[in-house]
Amino acid sequence: MKKQKMQTAVPVLTALLMVLYPVASLPEQKSTPAQTVPSTLVAQNAPKALPDGPGKDTFVRVCSKCHSTDIPASQHKNADEWTNTLIDMRNKGAEASDEEMEQILKYLVTNFGPRK
Ligand code: HEC
Repeated sequence: MKKQKMQTAVPVLTALLMVLYPVASLPEQKSTPAQTVPSTLVAQNAPKALPDGPGKDTFVRVCSKCHSTDIPASQHKNADEWTNTLIDMRNKGAEASDEEMEQILKYLVTNFGPRK
């Protein structure tokens, strides 16, 4: 009786291993894309370095409140267009005196003016 039991246990174990093996290897396959995503996200989220110059501090203080400074810093506009943007942002709730807005306008036109 004992000998018979041992013999049937081998095919049962083999069948169990064949069922369990693909299940056990699944998480490993899934983790490959998940590991590559964060590095690209980190690169996208890192704010671009802003050029130094007069008005930079005011620009960063006022214009980084609601969104990244990358949004204005990725654009190129002339003085009229930047003035319209600043009026637009003030209407949205940007808080800065006229004097501070002048500093920001100069900074933007100097560093993010029309493409040459
Ligand atoms: C009170 C919140 C707030 C502040 C402060 C703010 N913005 Fe914005 N800004 C927004 C919102 C909301 C949007 C997106 C809606 C849109 O595109 O009109 C936006 C979009 C923009 C855009 C892209 C759309 C466009 O008009 O070209 C630029 C450029 C921009 N902001 C520049 C600035 C600058 C420069 C400052 C600093 C003077 C500033 N923002 C401060 C709220 C703000």
